Amino acid sequence: MTSPTAPEPAYAAVPPPGCPAHAGGLARLYGPEHAADPKATFAALRTQGSVAPVEIAPGVEATLVIGYQSALEVLRSPERFSKNPRRWQALADGSVPADSPVVPMMMHRPNALWSDGEEHARYRSAITDTLAQIDPNELRGHVEECADILIDRIGPDGTADLLSDYSAMLPMLVFNRMFGCPADIGDKLVFGMSRIFDAEADAEKANQVLTEGGIELVALKRREPGADVTSWMMAHPARLTDLEMLHQLALLMGAGTEPEQNLICNALLLLLSDDRFAGDLAGGSMPVDEALDEVLWTDPPLANYAVHYAIQDTEVDGVEVPAGRPVLVSFTAANTDPALSGERRAGNRAHLAWSAGPHTCPAKSAARLIAAVAVEKLLDRLPDVELDCEVEQLEWRQGPFHRALTALPVRFPPIAVTVPAATDETSGDTEWNPKPAPSSSTPQDATSTARGPVSAKAAPRRWWRFLAVWRRGR
Ligand code: HEM
Repeated sequence: MTSPTAPEPAYAAVPPPGCPAHAGGLARLYGPEHAADPKATFAALRTQGSVAPVEIAPGVEATLVIGYQSALEVLRSPERFSKNPRRWQALADGSVPADSPVVPMMMHRPNALWSDGEEHARYRSAITDTLAQIDPNELRGHVEECADILIDRIGPDGTADLLSDYSAMLPMLVFNRMFGCPADIGDKLVFGMSRIFDAEADAEKANQVLTEGGIELVALKRREPGADVTSWMMAHPARLTDLEMLHQLALLMGAGTEPEQNLICNALLLLLSDDRFAGDLAGGSMPVDEALDEVLWTDPPLANYAVHYAIQDTEVDGVEVPAGRPVLVSFTAANTDPALSGERRAGNRAHLAWSAGPHTCPAKSAARLIAAVAVEKLLDRLPDVELDCEVEQLEWRQGPFHRALTALPVRFPPIAVTVPAATDETSGDTEWNPKPAPSSSTPQDATSTARGPVSAKAAPRRWWRFLAVWRRGR
């Protein structure tokens, strides 16, 4: 066994033959080759078994769990595997620099994701009790409204980037409303988290933007509580401090918006590119449910995460896992483990896209509902939508944690929209629940028959345009 204070790789760091993501050392979970074809990386790693060494950023080593059963073993063994990043030996001793681009996605924060035991239970109860107050019918209605507003903006054009114009904006609009978050603060939270996911050089700066947004939202809701998730969480018996509130909010909005946009986008891509769905797009929710399940099995939005640390030197499937070294679970690789037969996958939801064990996503029903409504609505309003490029031309964002497109260009017969939009839904100033009683002065909800094109279309598009350009490296 290796010493916890001086973790040594307990395996030969020999690249598997033909691995496309190797550069003479450990398999790389980042960079253009891996982003273009992560399944090739996993296929090569499988030659080493269900657990393999990888590099997740320059000079940052980790153990990657790629087998389904081994993944469950790690996720369901909190007595052996801690979530607390303070156990990360290479960060503590400085061999991983504090400004490494993966650090903001892996560093300790006082939140549910990075805590164990009683501390975790306290944060998690505040989160789950708060999320339980969301009415699914109201959530569905609000997703539909937001989707209509966004579709109205692109409808007359006949072309769009379904990532920046739709999939990225929809969760943000919904979340601003859910959290009672003004648009400018929401932008900071979502933009900050999005850049952190990319794990590039500006991740530390993005982390500051995220923190700033969280501080502003907490201060606002302490002053002016409303009927929203932020205020409900503040009132929870766990009595979270401002610092704890800030970190649960950043977790919720970050964990919520970035994976959500990628679930929507990846499902749209599958529906638009796979012949099995051709001709069936406007045929109801069935193909949408199937597409969501398939994406959650084969291309989950969080591809590799669930960072754990062995509490003591241990082993998984015969491979030594030293204490102090990050252990990541590849949800993608575990879900596509050849040991799982096709029959075992079909028609069941035992995939690990939401993780498993004590840290399993507490919002999976809401997250799935948002994605399903978003996709259904788009296909309902734009039934003849099609890809505006070859699938091979699409690019994927780099970074070890997510499976995320840089853009999803589409074309469709333009649709006419006739009534100007009356509200700025991006404000999030409206309360989540209840809605004001309708009156002659109440702005009309945007629906598929009453929506606003020109004014809405002309409205300034803020960071998401900027972000799309940034992602494409222009
Ligand atoms: C498609 C959308 C989503 C996906 C794929 C997803 C997936 C996941 C996964 C895999 C984890 C475990 C991460 C880990 O252990 O490192 C997780 C945790 C979490 N998710 Fe989600 N999630 C989604 C949406 C949401 C939404 C909408 C929210 C909140 C509104 C949310 C809140 C959380 C929280 C708070 C945790 C941490 C739970 C804990 O550590 O106890 N997620 N999610």
